[in-house]
Amino acid sequence: MIDKSQRLFSFVAGEQGPWSIQSNTAVVGESLPDAACLAVIGYTESVPESASQWSLRGVTSNERYVTRDEKTALVARQAELGRPAADRGAFIALRKNPQWWALTQDERRSIVEEQSRHIAVGMNYLPAIARRLFHCRDLPSAQPFDFLTWFEFNAADAGAFDELLGLLRGTSEWRFVEREVDLRLIRGRCA
Ligand code: HEM
Repeated sequence: MIDKSQRLFSFVAGEQGPWSIQSNTAVVGESLPDAACLAVIGYTESVPESASQWSLRGVTSNERYVTRDEKTALVARQAELGRPAADRGAFIALRKNPQWWALTQDERRSIVEEQSRHIAVGMNYLPAIARRLFHCRDLPSAQPFDFLTWFEFNAADAGAFDELLGLLRGTSEWRFVEREVDLRLIRGRCA
């Protein structure tokens, strides 16, 4: 459960967890090992890492790129996580390359939105897709990914989610992605 009062989360893949892993695809770069189940664990809960295939950590954070108008529009349209009917999930881990991180904030914003329309295009998929972004570079130790992204939607919206991903992966923003692993999930069918 992704509890809003917490910021640090572990995504633990193994033999236990409320989400069943349906597919595990390395879109760019190195893959992650296969596992049956995925659990999302907050900081105050214990992480059964010894029994896990892998675990990744990320923190929720303040927004970096949105303008006031975009934020107002997002808040008006977006859905909360945890909707009972939204039993399909996606966990997508990404790393951007050193060229991305060498850019300034305004250069990155320009690529994300003015060139790639990430926010404007994503907005068209709200409220069907509920989402949460986790940052890994804010953690004290080096991490294999820069971002962990989490999405929940109804089975009927799985095609729309794939369509959105197709659009985003064709943008100039995605030319900076040097590692991307895409896991698809179904809630409640695991150990
Ligand atoms: C469902 C519709 C979506 C909406 C409305 C949306 C919206 C946003 C917004 C507003 C931001 C900027 C947050 C900030 O200001 O810091 C953002 C960042 C991000 N989104 Fe999306 N997004 C969507 C889908 C996706 C998808 C499908 C992915 C695929 C993995 C994705 C990956 C990311 C990543 C990695 C970032 C961080 C970019 C960076 O800081 O360099 N988003 N998204």
